[in-house]
Amino acid sequence: MPKTIRVDPLAPDPEKIAEAVEVLSKGGIVAFPTETVYGLGADAYNPRAIRRIFEVKGRPMDNPVILHISSFNMLFEVVEDVSSDIIDILRVLWPGPFTVVLKKRPSIPDEATAKLPLVAVRMPAHPVALALIEKLGRPIAAPSANRSGRPSPTTAEHVIEDLGDSVDLVIDGGETFLGVESTVVDLTRKPPILLRPGPVDPEYLERVVGIKVSIPDFARGLGEAEKALAPGMRYRHYAPDKKLILIEDAPGIARCVEDLAKDLIGKGYKLCIVGYDELSYLGDLLGVEYISMGSKGNKFEIAKNLFKALRSVDKTNADLCIAVGIDEKGIGLAIMNRLRKASGGNIIKCGDPYP
Ligand code: TXA
Ligand code: MG
Repeated sequence: MPKTIRVDPLAPDPEKIAEAVEVLSKGGIVAFPTETVYGLGADAYNPRAIRRIFEVKGRPMDNPVILHISSFNMLFEVVEDVSSDIIDILRVLWPGPFTVVLKKRPSIPDEATAKLPLVAVRMPAHPVALALIEKLGRPIAAPSANRSGRPSPTTAEHVIEDLGDSVDLVIDGGETFLGVESTVVDLTRKPPILLRPGPVDPEYLERVVGIKVSIPDFARGLGEAEKALAPGMRYRHYAPDKKLILIEDAPGIARCVEDLAKDLIGKGYKLCIVGYDELSYLGDLLGVEYISMGSKGNKFEIAKNLFKALRSVDKTNADLCIAVGIDEKGIGLAIMNRLRKASGGNIIKCGDPYP
């Protein structure tokens, strides 16, 4: 077990934050809660500490990390050529689950950006994360605190399950608030490109800050991303060890799930289903384990429980699980991106037989 300290997520004890900052200052790596998922942090100006994060996660070195900041002054320390329009946008979206990709300053270590000229930056809206960055007085480089390829951690237990003793300290601030990672947008391009959908959805961006992002297929979780554009989107991600088949949302999906499940059970598979409350009756009907992420009417609830549900797939006695898709409105786009990636391309349309 790594050293773990419990904190009140809304009012963290300054002494405990100071203890974690000491670990970071000495080049250690610390897992901490943000409003989206847990991050695994290092001092952003310590290349050696950043390299350790990659090693511990098993993350390819060509997948850059996000720099977490606590003030606009810190933003200007890490990026250059930021227009006042962009600052106006960030003043509305930060602190929050939004990551911007901008031109980096030369002082940013190559380890953080995988030698790219651009850097991803985010000001998180979590009292623990903000207190930690502020007390350190420097940005914290942090990817999600999961083993590479696994579902992101939404609790300290998930972090420990994946990384164990290889982290120096875990700050346990309970369950994260949102459950899916931040929206990532490259604002250096015209039009701006959505690299990863998250809680700040495209309609919101257009309505509230007036930016219309282009949405490439890979942001929906389909197809391959171009390496230079979206380095992190090419890897299999969020996946349980067990095979997952995703059924895309469509009218009459309940029937599609039922038919596919019966077909697979008939072929001798032990099944589980990951879906929403409204279809949970299928569990009893088919005699299979049904893992619900929440009500279809409350996509924030589904987002919050998504990674926990994907992790619990591996704890069932099933050989194969069916994931039930939802529509892409609002945070639905982020949920579907994660589910499509978790299925590793095993995606079927409603009514298609399992090949
Ligand atoms: O909510 C979040 O964003 C969480 C919390 C901890 O802040 N962090 C997170 O980090 O999800 P990570 O490393 O798991 O995902 C960061 C994503 C990756 O897909 C990465 O490829 C992309 O951001 N990214 C980072 N730097 C980039 C850059 N310079 N250009 C393009 N994409 C970049
Ligand atoms: Mg990640």
